[in-house]
Amino acid sequence: MKKKIAVLTGAGVSAESGISTFRDSGGLWDNYNVEDVASIDGWYRNPGLVLDFYNTRRKELASASPNAAHLAIAGLEKDYDVTVITQNVDNLHERAGSTRIIHLHGELTKVRPEDSCNDRDGFSEAKVFDIGYGEIHLGDLSPDGVQLRPHIVWFGEAVPKIESAIDAVEAADILLIVGTSLQVYPAAGLYRYAGRNTPIYIIDPKDVPAYDRRITHIRNVATAGMEEFRRILERQKAD
Ligand code: APR
Repeated sequence: MKKKIAVLTGAGVSAESGISTFRDSGGLWDNYNVEDVASIDGWYRNPGLVLDFYNTRRKELASASPNAAHLAIAGLEKDYDVTVITQNVDNLHERAGSTRIIHLHGELTKVRPEDSCNDRDGFSEAKVFDIGYGEIHLGDLSPDGVQLRPHIVWFGEAVPKIESAIDAVEAADILLIVGTSLQVYPAAGLYRYAGRNTPIYIIDPKDVPAYDRRITHIRNVATAGMEEFRRILERQKAD
């Protein structure tokens, strides 16, 4: 049986594809007010502004490609049973070939009616549909006549996929974390569900606020860090 690897990714894994991170200097939250464009209250205050923000993100994504880190994560499936848990709303893990992906914070290329809210009962997946890299505007309605909204988990909303993410982390033999500042919960607390003796590798060029004897910090960007991680796995196999 193949060993299980759970991979938790954040904006840093897509940085080398030219997609801005959120909290680095020059990141998205330097240029936009997070409360305006990524919270449920912001949506009710000014939905047009929110739609514009995500229309721009979708356009950026159309011209981005997976980088060597996305490809290396997909390549792990050759030897391991891999679940990718991503906070990213881009589709670069899919386009790199990963087959099991949990999108904790939603997906940029999908939309749903605004009344299918992301509350405790979750939303009806049946109402979610793909618009690719297209735009949505005020007045664009679902088949049953309700304003469409991005299929994104905003601040102030529940995270319906967190339970399946916890299951994947608990089941993992190895946990790999790539490119996240671990500032946003519940995703930031996921590593605590790793088994008592499960090694945890964190690839990030900066310090991250996770302190645990199981953690090995690979202080590097995602692409080079993934090469180091592969070498560590090879060494473990040889032992
Ligand atoms: N390779 C690897 N890591 C990188 C790279 C790179 N090339 N460049 C930057 N990083 C690291 C940064 O050092 C930082 O630790 O990626 C991390 C990015 O952190 P954030 O910008 O906070 O992104 P993320 O952790 O994914 O944010 C979580 O917050 O507002 C939101 O919903 C949004 O999903 C997002 C969540």
